[in-house]
Amino acid sequence: MKALIADDEENIRFVLKSLVQDLGFQIVEAADGAQALDALRSQHFDLAVLDIKMPEADGITVLHEAREIDPTLVVVIVTAFGTDEQAMEAIREGAYDYFVKPFEIEDVRITIRRAMEKKRLTDRIRDLEAQVSRQRTFHEIVGSSQVMQDVFEMMQRVVDNDVPVLIAGESGTGKELVARAIHARGPRRDNPMVRLNCAAIPESLLESELFGHERGSFTGAVSARPGKFELASGGTLFLDEIGDMPLALQAKILRAVQEREIQRVGGRFPISIDARLITASNRDLAEEVAAKRFREDLYFRINVIAIELPPLRKRVSDIPLLLDFFIDQHSRRLGKPIRGLSREALDLFLQYEWPGNVRELENALQRAIVMARGPRIEIADLPSVMIGGEPARDEASSARTLDLDPSLPMPEQVERVVEVAERRLIAEVLEQTTGRQEAADRLGISRKSLHNKMLKYGMMGKE
Ligand SMILES: Nc1ncnc2c1ncn2[C@@H]1O[C@H](COP(=O)(O)OP(=O)(O)OP(=O)(O)O)[C@@H](O)[C@H]1O
Ligand SMILES: [Mg+2]
Repeated sequence: MKALIADDEENIRFVLKSLVQDLGFQIVEAADGAQALDALRSQHFDLAVLDIKMPEADGITVLHEAREIDPTLVVVIVTAFGTDEQAMEAIREGAYDYFVKPFEIEDVRITIRRAMEKKRLTDRIRDLEAQVSRQRTFHEIVGSSQVMQDVFEMMQRVVDNDVPVLIAGESGTGKELVARAIHARGPRRDNPMVRLNCAAIPESLLESELFGHERGSFTGAVSARPGKFELASGGTLFLDEIGDMPLALQAKILRAVQEREIQRVGGRFPISIDARLITASNRDLAEEVAAKRFREDLYFRINVIAIELPPLRKRVSDIPLLLDFFIDQHSRRLGKPIRGLSREALDLFLQYEWPGNVRELENALQRAIVMARGPRIEIADLPSVMIGGEPARDEASSARTLDLDPSLPMPEQVERVVEVAERRLIAEVLEQTTGRQEAADRLGISRKSLHNKMLKYGMMGKE
């Protein structure tokens, strides 16, 4: 271990030096504040003993900067008799302790020993804390199961470089959360992450959403607008539900990714782009490729690293942790001090199938927090699908009814309302038309995306 001893009086330095040496430190001496700062800036220390009154820079100034360089540095201050005020200031600035000249050697020895002991303890606690949080969360993603540990490790490996990442997993497994975490932990974090949900945008608008357009390039293009690729430059472009991307656009995306440049709709010049690409899909893209609905070359391009999020029913051991996490988060937000779940309620959470995965669990829990009459969540507070035991997909997803819930964030609500509207529109148009092509034309979407939406909303065979 290394200690810095800064005092302008040579004989004091001498006494302190031999004392601190005896405690097992290697010593660097400084005869004034400037020398002390030089040393602190160029070497690592475990302990600094600083005199308050020194030429060049006083002990408080040195202390202040030392703490900035290394907040874990243990600093002990030496003051002259009658300068209590300054000693107190030093403590406020983060010094561990101080002693007053003339001092008793033994007092100084004890003070330094105690300071170092305290440092050892705080270091140890910090280590343990880091270890625990490393295991259970990765940037707000909770999960201690082995599969989630593997996911975290994979994420850690890809955050620092720009390899394309494809995130797969059922609805509600946390794909968007993973995309956000990769962006937020990487070097592009200070630039935006731009998301485009390829399934939610009519095919006719997708191209301009992605690449932007020039003024007058099509009816309604009253002014020029940059697309998501451009907006994401310097940051990350997150293409969600990429499996829903029409084939014609897949080719254009491939070109953009390969050539690192795009052309706006109606534009005449290429624009270079620099965006990290993250994609997600709840379909099996390999299957889509086999069925010729997804371009193989694009698939290979975006699937350099695949992160597969397992459904919640395959990682039941994460459920208690997720419950703790969401209870903490939502009970505080909803102003209801909930302390946990009854044994029976917990069992139901563990047994249920969770077709809607973590999103469904979070919703069920929020509802339960609102319903709870006491400090604990009971079976009676749970949604009926959970109690009935039969995981009914329809009822499980509250996207089916337009029940606005002011406790949820707006984007999520809006997405749901849009889903409800889409489903209703499709049902109506299907009734009025004969055949999918006609219905798709009427809706102004492709036949394929009609098919996909019907799949998503469980409307197959209901025409
Ligand atoms: N491991 C997790 N820890 C904490 N929260 C999670 C976790 N997984 C999902 N969530 C939460 O569940 C909700 C759904 O997550 P997200 O939107 O990322 O899912 P998704 O896979 O993109 O779903 P979809 O395919 O329906 O778009 C979000 O509120 C998210 O914060
Ligand atoms: Mg999503």
